[in-house]
Amino acid sequence: MMICLSCTESTLKADLELIRTNKDFIDAVEIRADFLSPDEYSLLPELPSSAGVPCILTFRLPADGGMDSILSAAGRAGVMTGALRGGWAYVDIEDDADPETHRELIKTASENGTRVIRSFHDFSGVPENLVQRMIDNSDADRCIPKAAVMPKCSGDFIRLAEAFQSLSAYRANSMGYSCTGGPFLSDYILVGMGAFGFPSRIMAAAWGGMLTFASAGKTTAAPGHISPRQMVCDYNFKNITAKTDVFGIIGNPVMHTKSPMLHNEAMRKNRIDAVYLPFETDDPASILDNSELLNLKGLSVTIPHKQKVMGLAYGLDEAVEKIGACNTLVKKDGWFGYNTDWKGFLKPIETEKLGGERALVVGAGGASRAVVYALLSIGMEVTIVNRTAEKAAALAADFGCIGGGMDLLPRSGRPAGRASGFSLVVQTTSAGMEPDIDQNPLPGFDFTGVRIVYDIIYAPDETRFLAEARAAGCRTINGFPMLKAQAQEQFRLFTGCEME
Ligand code: ATR
Repeated sequence: MMICLSCTESTLKADLELIRTNKDFIDAVEIRADFLSPDEYSLLPELPSSAGVPCILTFRLPADGGMDSILSAAGRAGVMTGALRGGWAYVDIEDDADPETHRELIKTASENGTRVIRSFHDFSGVPENLVQRMIDNSDADRCIPKAAVMPKCSGDFIRLAEAFQSLSAYRANSMGYSCTGGPFLSDYILVGMGAFGFPSRIMAAAWGGMLTFASAGKTTAAPGHISPRQMVCDYNFKNITAKTDVFGIIGNPVMHTKSPMLHNEAMRKNRIDAVYLPFETDDPASILDNSELLNLKGLSVTIPHKQKVMGLAYGLDEAVEKIGACNTLVKKDGWFGYNTDWKGFLKPIETEKLGGERALVVGAGGASRAVVYALLSIGMEVTIVNRTAEKAAALAADFGCIGGGMDLLPRSGRPAGRASGFSLVVQTTSAGMEPDIDQNPLPGFDFTGVRIVYDIIYAPDETRFLAEARAAGCRTINGFPMLKAQAQEQFRLFTGCEME
């Protein structure tokens, strides 16, 4: 399975520089001629010998996601025909390109030993006839069919995974000379664009495509491309096979998450044949129900699915029931749900001997529930305050502690930490998180005398809330140690091994 760097610079010199800096991670390159300035076209024949890896020549039309060009379709075909004498391994021609206009190009490809990739693009979804159209494109000339489609939901993503499966099965049959009766299929390229399609860019290594595309320049060639270095270093791409166990995170949105880096590094260090992927998910059931197809063994769960997945598991641990949120699913006979957030939260304060002392929790959402559960488990006396008093009161009633609006805090000019004797103050709301870093859920709070102030936000490193606490002399903790510790706990549940 090849990693193909898609080059989208305006000069071939710049493309070659990109190839040079990525050479350790790539097996092929695609030159997107539609990004080149026209005075570069005459240099195209020299490119393959300078690149040193198999090259694909693509001159994408605007309708298929290409750049605007002053050339007509015939002019474009002429440029590509002229380039092919330079020893290009592949040339990409859209399956709806006019045969008459492209006759000379296809003939020249055949004379030069250049294989034709017959491609089509669908930015509106995953078409019903995806597999059949690809098989039809794999015609007697032994073209390589390629499709780039845009899954718009988890259901589309599953249909894409099934398309890989069908194409690989068809290929195995047609290669083995069996009775498919249809066109011969040797290789195929299938691409899932966008966030919903992203896992297919990595899983193509297991599912059977010929190559996967990556970008490294200033412009990303297609939605969802990552760099070849990320493919290899962050996703262990070169070690993925059909036997590789799959783990991941389901959420919406999820592409920003750092979890794949943490888990994949730990998989590598523990020599476990597994990969961890971000699954943008609008419908968790469609991912969970297809665990066999995806070879899924475990999932992290994030916003907004932590409640919804509880109804999809055959069993839940006690903390999940009490907190009312599940952030970890492990595939056993069915899916079993855990919550590792509360253990992760306790990790940075586990040596502090806080039992019997008073804690103030700011916020009364899902994250707050895990924090309150954790603090009660170590014997702290908990007070919850929230912008919406009723939510804090309801949460407090659930856990048998004190809760209400901000007015619950004693005021002597400003709400006081010291007067209330809080040893620990925990910020659990989203206020102050990037990009709204100026927000503070408890402006003017008097932190003097509070021993530890803990904000579960990790971006930015230091929220305004935490900066004020530090200025008042408190020990401060941000959300990164919690993120790391809950991932360590998940990794233990997933693999039985330790994440450093
Ligand atoms: P999560 O699962 O991350 O906890 P949530 O369940 O939506 O998310 O809860 C968000 C929490 O952040 C709530 O306590 C919310 O306060 P309200 O209940 O009053 O909505 C709190 N929150 C969000 N933005 C806030 C802000 N700007 N100031 C104060 N509290 C805020």
